[in-house]
Amino acid sequence: MRKIFLAPSILSANFYKLGNDIEKTLLGGGDIIHFDIMDNHYVSNLTFGPLVLSSLRKNGIKSIIDVHIMAKPVDRLIYDCIKFGANFITIHSDSTIHLNRSLKIIRDHGCKAGIAINPAQSLNFLEYIMDSIDLILVMTVNPGYSEQIFINEMLPKIKKIRSKIDNSNFKNILLSVDGGIKKKHIKNLVKIGVDIIVMGSEIFKKKDIYQTTKNIKKILINYSKNY
Ligand code: DX5
Ligand code: ZN
Repeated sequence: MRKIFLAPSILSANFYKLGNDIEKTLLGGGDIIHFDIMDNHYVSNLTFGPLVLSSLRKNGIKSIIDVHIMAKPVDRLIYDCIKFGANFITIHSDSTIHLNRSLKIIRDHGCKAGIAINPAQSLNFLEYIMDSIDLILVMTVNPGYSEQIFINEMLPKIKKIRSKIDNSNFKNILLSVDGGIKKKHIKNLVKIGVDIIVMGSEIFKKKDIYQTTKNIKKILINYSKNY
């Protein structure tokens, strides 16, 4: 059975009780905390940064954290996120002038490096960085906000990336999908070979975060038995 990870995105959490919301989703089976940094420049929204990451670590959040940085310039933030306990750092290729160098900073400091791909972005550049990444995050909405509609046209693109990974020398690269994902999308995403499913509002905007996470995790596990 393939292990598929559930990554709750805290962009949709209640920031007044962030720690609580995170504990509930982890207890319900969330595998990776997805941590969206936005800067009101690369994207038009403004969220949280390394200091919040530091608070989570200092207060006992031990889970894997994938920091998805939607900020420009990005290198300075990479160093801070490493310092404060990120496990994965996922960046956008157009948020840095020297992508290869930024990815190298992440890996050289013991973090896993991820690359995020925007909906309208083509995939050609991927072949030149496959040896420098551990994760590909396919955006199924335009980055910046939660509760947007999943762009169905991204499904063939996800399949393309799956086969790029499988036909490369870097088969361990994780394929992650982020944006607009609801329960109804899980079956298809599992079927086409996604490794990580990011979900924000579908988890944190529900009344019972623990039970919702538990249900979604159950669905995930059931589908992963079949595909
Ligand atoms: C969007 C963010 C996502 C967002 C997903 O730019 O990168 O991680 O939190 O939220 P939902 O699942 O509500 O689309
Ligand atoms: Zn994200």
